[in-house]
Amino acid sequence: MIGVFDSGSGGLTILEALHRRMPDQDFLYLGDHANAPYGHRSNEKIVEMTREAISTLFDAGCTLVVLACNTAAAVALRTLQQKWLPHAYPGRRILGVLVPMVEAITGVPWAQEHPARTSARPKTILLFATQKTVKSGAYVEEVKKRAPTIRLVQKACPGLVDAIEGGTGPKPLAGLIEGYVEEALHEAGGLPDAALLGCTHFPLVRSYFEAAMPESIEILSQPDVVAASLEDYLKRHSEFRKKGSGRIRLMTTGRPEDVNLADSYLPPHLCHFEGGTVL
Ligand code: DGL
Repeated sequence: MIGVFDSGSGGLTILEALHRRMPDQDFLYLGDHANAPYGHRSNEKIVEMTREAISTLFDAGCTLVVLACNTAAAVALRTLQQKWLPHAYPGRRILGVLVPMVEAITGVPWAQEHPARTSARPKTILLFATQKTVKSGAYVEEVKKRAPTIRLVQKACPGLVDAIEGGTGPKPLAGLIEGYVEEALHEAGGLPDAALLGCTHFPLVRSYFEAAMPESIEILSQPDVVAASLEDYLKRHSEFRKKGSGRIRLMTTGRPEDVNLADSYLPPHLCHFEGGTVL
């Protein structure tokens, strides 16, 4: 069984793509709605909450967990992979959403930090993300190491995760997103080539980003990129690919009735959360 974790409902955009691409796999999703959003919390707290959630998924029988949260991936993934996982859950794996995105943007494999030559043509990409992901600088740093000709213009979007989780109505939501897009375009100085919705909640409101941006800006789809990357990983590590029946179970640390209500943006099969005890 594959575990998928996010601070809230955003990771469902990743889960949906994983399930579409690998319909024979069973998935267990955990949303830490009781503690969301993570985007403004301290690094220590994010590491602690992420570790707790991953332990819950491992204890429930997952052998591999996808951190479907850019904030947790940017802040906590490396520390947990290096300092905690090998002794706490030897033989299990944690994968994030940042690595496949950086590989897709640069066309350079993660292991190849400073390639002698890069074929990436110069371009500007807008990155919309949480305050914490922006502050970590992880995307900028990792892209620069592999493709210095690519310029990332970061735009933190405080309040947007809350607005999505809270089911804010179309008008205020559009206003919020238009404001962030306008600021990002201004900072870019010219017409950017692409935009990355670098928070897994944001694809839930992709149509608002599309409406607010010039048509020529391509929106990079993180869910599709992550799903392709995981499929490839499972081909190379077949011990984590156990044939299942395509079962999806959604768990939350919050009150399921609140979460289910808030998730009006999602297809019905991804709306039914159960309570937090998965063991
Ligand atoms: N979906 C999370 C992400 O990708 C949102 C983090 C938060 O709770 O602020 O960053």
